[in-house]
Amino acid sequence: MEGDQPRDPIMLDGKVAIVTGAAGGIGAATARLMARRGASVVIADIAGDAAQAAAQRIGEDGAAAIALPVDLADEASVVALIEETVSRFGRLDILHNNAAALTPELHAADLDIARMETWAWDRSFAVNCRGTMIAMRTALPHLVTSRGAIVNTVAAMALRGHALQAAYTASKAAVIQMTRSVAASHGRLGVRCNAVAPGLILTPVVRDHLPPEMLTMTLGETLNDRLGEPEDVAQIAAFLASDAAGHVNGQVVTVDGGYISHIPGVSGLS
Ligand SMILES: NC(=O)c1ccc[n+]([C@@H]2O[C@H](COP(=O)([O-])OP(=O)(O)OC[C@H]3O[C@@H](n4cnc5c(N)ncnc54)[C@H](O)[C@@H]3O)[C@@H](O)[C@H]2O)c1
Repeated sequence: MEGDQPRDPIMLDGKVAIVTGAAGGIGAATARLMARRGASVVIADIAGDAAQAAAQRIGEDGAAAIALPVDLADEASVVALIEETVSRFGRLDILHNNAAALTPELHAADLDIARMETWAWDRSFAVNCRGTMIAMRTALPHLVTSRGAIVNTVAAMALRGHALQAAYTASKAAVIQMTRSVAASHGRLGVRCNAVAPGLILTPVVRDHLPPEMLTMTLGETLNDRLGEPEDVAQIAAFLASDAAGHVNGQVVTVDGGYISHIPGVSGLS
C-alpha cells in the first residue's frame, strides 16, 4: 500500500531551499532538481530577469519555485533574501551558496598574485566569500530550527595550486574552511554544512569564454571520457542537501570526472 512506503530520504518534500546564483548554469540545474524532488525553491540571483525565467521554467515543470533578487556583495540584500524567504514560506531547510562573481572582466584581471588587480581580489572575496559568510550567519538560526543543511559550491581548482585565478581560488578555499567551521560549530545543533567542488563544467559562461585549448587540455586529464555538465553537480548538491546525506558533515565532494585525483600525464597509460 502506498501509505506504508518508507519516505525516500533523497526526496525534499516539504523543505524550503534557497539556491543563490540559480539564474543559469549549475545553480539553475540544482534548483530544478531540488524542485523536482519536492522542495519549494527560491532562485536568488543578481540577474533578476534570468532568475524569473528560471523560476518560470521550473513552474512549467509542475514544481514550486520563485525568484528573489539578491546582491551577494551587499549585506542588507543578503539578509533581506533570507528573511523574505522565511517570511513567505515560514521556514528554511536548505541554503545552497552557489553564486560567484564570474564576469569576463574579473576573469581577465584575476591572474597570478604578482599581477593581481586589487579590485579583482576585493570583488572575488566580497561576493564569493563575504556574501557566503553573511548568508550562512543569517540563515543559521533558521537552519537550527529546521535541522537543515548548507551546501557551498566551491571549486576543484581551490584544492590544488593554479598559476592563474589566484583571487577566485583563494576565495573558494576560504569557503571550504568556512564549510568546516560551520560543521564544527553547528553539527551538534543539527545543522550539516558540506561543499561540492566542481571541476570544469560546461555551463554557458564556460562554453562562451574558455579557450578551446583549455577544454582539450582538461579533457585530456579527465579520467572519465567526457567533460562535466551542470546536472552532474546538481545531483551531488541535491544529495548533500537531503536526508540521504544525514551523516555527512564538513565534507568537500569533488565532481570533476577524476581530474584532480591522479598524477598529471599518466591517465590512460597501460
Ligand atoms: N562552470 C565551472 O566550470 C565551474 C567550476 C568550478 C566551480 N564552479 C562554481 O559553480 C558555481 C556556478 O557557476 P556557473 O558555472 O554555473 O556560472 P554562472 O555564471 O552561470 O553562475 C553564477 C551565478 O551567480 C550570479 N551572481 C554573480 N554575482 C552575483 C552577486 N553579486 N549576487 C548574486 N548573484 C550573483 C550570476 O548572475 C550567475 O547566475 C560558481 O560558484 C562557480 O564558482 C563552476
